[in-house]
Amino acid sequence: MICSDLTFAASANAIVYCGATPIFIDSNHETWNLAPQLLALELDACAKRGKLPKAAVVVDLYGQCADYNPIVEICSRYSVPIIEDSAEAFGATYNGVQAGRFGVMAVFSFNGNKILTTSGGGMLVSDNPHYIEQARFLSQQARDPAPHYEHSQIGYNYRLSNLLAAIGRGQLERLDEKVAKKRTINTFYREALSDLPGIEFMPEAYYGKSNYWLTVILITPEKFGADREEVHLALDEENIESRPIWKPMHLQPVFKDCRFRGGSVSKDLFDRGLCLPSGTQMTEEDLERVVKIIKDCCKAT
Ligand SMILES: Cc1ncc(COP(=O)(O)O)c(C=O)c1O
Repeated sequence: MICSDLTFAASANAIVYCGATPIFIDSNHETWNLAPQLLALELDACAKRGKLPKAAVVVDLYGQCADYNPIVEICSRYSVPIIEDSAEAFGATYNGVQAGRFGVMAVFSFNGNKILTTSGGGMLVSDNPHYIEQARFLSQQARDPAPHYEHSQIGYNYRLSNLLAAIGRGQLERLDEKVAKKRTINTFYREALSDLPGIEFMPEAYYGKSNYWLTVILITPEKFGADREEVHLALDEENIESRPIWKPMHLQPVFKDCRFRGGSVSKDLFDRGLCLPSGTQMTEEDLERVVKIIKDCCKAT
């Protein structure tokens, strides 16, 4: 199965749970998401080898949708269904359409760190009632319809409890407010840091609106005078959590034997990228503290 290279391991792990093998596709610099041109090259090569992937897991990175117009066009040319990994992108839009509408199905995460959280769990959505029925069946240990416990397939305990679902429904009402707060945080950081030499922000692609789940910067050490790890450690010393961006899947030991199509975009983003504290509870004072520490790291002359 095709999979975005720059993502959290969960996207690729799900492929392996099914007994399939991931093929990783690099990002482009404009969106940081899966590069459509590389996808086209890979599917063309797969078709020539006579073995097309069963599906493509396309990730909406850090709250920004991938570029679905070309991706959907390329995948439908080869009849490869898309599974949208919108774990990070609840509330984001692509050409005005909500994330999660572009594949045959999509998943969202309600993990503790996400924009909408039930402390754990998530949601699978699809327009296809058969997929939903099958997902419900598998998520509850694949119990066949019978008066006793009968199983003709292996199932999973992947159900979201009623209690957590109720928490999620409550939070849903505040989604717009949370996206607005995340975007305010992003604007604050941009205004405070954009003028520093060697600092760039994850670009917001022209085609959509990011939910800015996390605000992410790139630090070019030759211009900034310190690298992303130095900034990470300086924040850590003040008990402020920041994180390097996802380490690309093709560089992970566990996926070292998988195919990778691309160059060094995702690796470059990993080398220079830092996710800044972006919690919706943050006050202006909190943001100012983060900004001051980053500014103090700048040793540009
Ligand atoms: C891109 C991506 N996919 C999948 C997941 C997995 O979500 P969960 O933790 O709800 O299983 C995450 C969560 O961090 C993610 O960022």
